[in-house]
Amino acid sequence: MLAGDFCVGLAILSMAAKALSWHDVSVHVGWGYLRGKTGVVGGSQYDTVHKLSVVCIHGWFDCCNSFDALVPLLPKGTKVLVLDLPGHGHSDHLPLGAQYNLVVYAANVQNAIAKLGWNRFVLMGHSMGVNVSVIFTALFPQYVRALVCLDQVAPYDTCNIFIKLKTDLLNFMEAEKNASRPPLVFSEEEAINRLVSARFRDYYHGVHIEREAIKILLPRLVRYENGVCTWRHDRRARPTFTMFMHGKIWRELIEAITCPVLVIQATGWSGKHPKEKYEETFNTYRKRAQWLETETVKGGHHIHLGKPQRIAPIISRFLEKVAREKYEHAKL
Ligand SMILES: *[C@@H]1O[C@H](CO)[C@@H](O)[C@H](O)[C@H]1NC(C)=O
Ligand SMILES: *[C@@H]1O[C@H](CO)[C@@H](O)[C@H](O)[C@H]1NC(C)=O
Repeated sequence: MLAGDFCVGLAILSMAAKALSWHDVSVHVGWGYLRGKTGVVGGSQYDTVHKLSVVCIHGWFDCCNSFDALVPLLPKGTKVLVLDLPGHGHSDHLPLGAQYNLVVYAANVQNAIAKLGWNRFVLMGHSMGVNVSVIFTALFPQYVRALVCLDQVAPYDTCNIFIKLKTDLLNFMEAEKNASRPPLVFSEEEAINRLVSARFRDYYHGVHIEREAIKILLPRLVRYENGVCTWRHDRRARPTFTMFMHGKIWRELIEAITCPVLVIQATGWSGKHPKEKYEETFNTYRKRAQWLETETVKGGHHIHLGKPQRIAPIISRFLEKVAREKYEHAKL
């Protein structure tokens, strides 16, 4: 059944690929370039009635191709911008001495978006991209018409801040030292295997992330030289993932969000816990968000890449509702 489902996904993907042509984007953000791509769903006509534009932020060690399968299934006429985060995909690596963290990502995304002249859009994040999007939405509410969170919603953890700071600092120092090591070299097959096993959160009902899905990410994740592959990402970005913020900070960031919010959880990852586990987080969103919608969908963590047809209708319905909404930011 899963295999059959996947064929449907691929058929939709190849059909949809014709309905969207991406244009490369490259923007200087002071220390280097962020790169990504932009396009309009269904061809070149931007729908100036609904004026829907969406900015997408990928997850940890993914790249902007993460949204290739999903975007073509969104409402026709929607303008989309996807960016590789600093140290990921085709974007430049931060200079030595600069630390990768969620706040730095948010600041760079803001810088790039402002330079590209995007000023009012729906922000959609996946995984760590949700964390970046939450920070962005809380700090730059004037840009964000609505927020879409793909499979990252967690109860607030109350870590020991001292231990956390110390771990982060030591990781940062170790990553700086590691930077001078020679790059790892792989065959394409090995690179694919590593990418599959690194995405352990996609393990769902005995099935790992589909190799076809990984192949969508691959061209921006590796560099081909003399028949071998090296990673494009900056290995110094690795500790970002452990850089959780204290639960109190997440609570206050989420409390600052006033736009409509959609949270989609995949049953293979964040959605595998009972809903009560997230009630506190959802209630925090409900305090000021114009409205909150939550959905749990069958699939693994990269559901938007492997099974986009399962979540595209939910996102499209939400986007259409946002487009109809005249009285924006009622509670600002
Ligand atoms: C530094 O490199 C070692 C060896 O590859 C690795 O085990 C370690 O996790 C790296 N440290 C950081 C912080 O990336
Ligand atoms: C993302 O945010 C959640 C809270 O919603 C938090 O528990 C989690 O640790 C954060 N993840 C990262 C990568 O910082």
